[in-house]
Formats: sequence, structure tokens, C-alpha cells
Amino acid sequence: MALANENSPVFSLGGFQATMAFFRDEPKITEAFRTGKGVDWGDHDPNMYEGTERFYKPNYIANIVSSWIPLLDGGKVEEKLKRGGSGTKIADVGCGHGISTILMAKAYPNSKFIGFDYHKPSIEVARKKAKEEGLYEDRITFEVASSTDFSAKEGEGYDLIAFFDCLHDMGDPSGAASHVLQTLKPDGTWMIVEPFANDKVEDNLNPIGRMYYAASSLVCVPASLAHNGPALGAQAGERRISELVKAVGFKQFRRATQTAFTIVYEAKP
Ligand SMILES: C[S@@+](CC[C@H](N)C(=O)[O-])C[C@H]1O[C@@H](n2cnc3c(N)ncnc32)[C@H](O)[C@@H]1O
Repeated sequence: MALANENSPVFSLGGFQATMAFFRDEPKITEAFRTGKGVDWGDHDPNMYEGTERFYKPNYIANIVSSWIPLLDGGKVEEKLKRGGSGTKIADVGCGHGISTILMAKAYPNSKFIGFDYHKPSIEVARKKAKEEGLYEDRITFEVASSTDFSAKEGEGYDLIAFFDCLHDMGDPSGAASHVLQTLKPDGTWMIVEPFANDKVEDNLNPIGRMYYAASSLVCVPASLAHNGPALGAQAGERRISELVKAVGFKQFRRATQTAFTIVYEAKP
């Protein structure tokens, strides 16, 4: 299950594939530590992108549809997605290879999904995967767009906007939060999935915190710094994320649920 079955909830080779990219990227990271200029997400060894997809996929298969979405807004989000129709729209921002988008689209066939990412090669992979599943254009589309300017038709906001393991990587997470607030329907929900972290460093000194701090220093912090961002990093913690979300005008924020690896936050206008 851990080594051979890509769809098992304990499949773990994706993390090793991403680790291979860490080593191949070592000269760039070392230089970035010297200059403070960061390394953009798109400048890594290609194993980073597939490794990230395969690292998160087991967690998403095990949780998104069976646990995380049902827990949002007292079950109302799941109800809307299941019912679909009348312009029910979901955005998956920073969607990478689109694994989360495809899982949701398969589970809620009456709703329309759109995945956005500013990394064009990832969007090309996502489109290919959705085509292979027979979902592309009918139930899912993917567009190259940044989290601060992804499209929303006038008067037609999103019912759900999801950010899976990407808010902390962004150059302008506050700008992204503002854009989400402007593009959600008034009763819409923002689901923010982040790596598990406590607020204090000393409370993260455990095997999971060690793994995430390492990955964060090599990938997440440099990604944000490459855009002169605040470098929240993968261990930002609930207090920091909550402050950022409330500062742009969201009225409600809560921790909807968590696993050993993940915290799921919910924000509402
Ligand atoms: C760690 S990966 C997660 C990808 C995917 N959500 C997943 O869970 O597998 C972070 C993703 O965020 C995207 N990203 C980072 N900053 C972004 C921004 N400002 N706008 C759009 N996408 C962004 C990256 O291109 C990358 O695909």
C-alpha cells in the first residue's frame, strides 16, 4: 500500500520524488539563501510538480469528498454541490495538476469546476488528466491565472473557492484573500487547506513539523520571496492565517477539521 498502490491513503513515494527535486535544486536554493531573492515555483526540477501531486493525492482521495466538504457550513456546501444546477460553480485556486479538482468534479456531477494556477505547465497536465477522465470542458475547465486575478463573470460568483496547500506559497496571500472575497457569492465559502501546524515553533518540533519546516525552507518560503511576498511558509499556523483572512474583511473564520497532516479552515463573507 505504501510503495505500490498510488491510490492508497498511505502511498508515500510522492514525498521521495519531491525530495529528489530538493537535492537537484540545491545550488539554486543555496544561492537564494545567500541573496534572499527566493526561487519561484516554476523554477524547480520537474520532479517537484509530479512529486507534489503524488504526495498530496492520497490525502485528498481519503478526505476531500468523504470528510472535508461535508463539514463545511454545517453541510450546506455539500448539499449545494450535490444539487448543482442554476450556476453552481466551484473554483480550485493554485490547483497544480488538478487532482483535487478532478476528485470533486467526479463526486458532484451537477456542478461546474474551474481550476486556476499561474504555472502553465501544471495547467497543461491538469487539462490532459481531465480529458483522460472525459470531464474536460463539460464539467471542468483549467485556466492559467494568478490567485489575485482569476476570472469570475459579473454577477456570477463562486459557491465554493478552494485553496489546497498553496495559500502560504503565494507572493500576495492578502491580495488573494481579497480577490476571493470579491468573487464569492454572498453565501459562498472559502475552504483553505493548509499543512498541519501549531502557532508556536516549539509545538511543531515533532516528525511532521520537521518534515514540513524542511520542505517549507526549500520550496514554500523561497516561492513567496520570489514575488517579494511575506513568506508565510508551510508552518504558518491558525493565528497567522486567521489574521490574514479577517484583515481583508471576511466576517467568519474557523478550523473546520484537521488530520495529522492537514488543517482545513473555512472562511465566509
Ligand atoms: C504546493 S503546490 C499545490 C498544488 C495543488 N493545489 C495540490 O494540492 O497538489 C502550490 C501551487 O500553488 C500555485 N501557486 C502559487 N502561487 C500562486 C499564485 N499567486 N497564483 C496561482 N497559483 C499559485 C503553484 O503554481 C502550485 O501549483
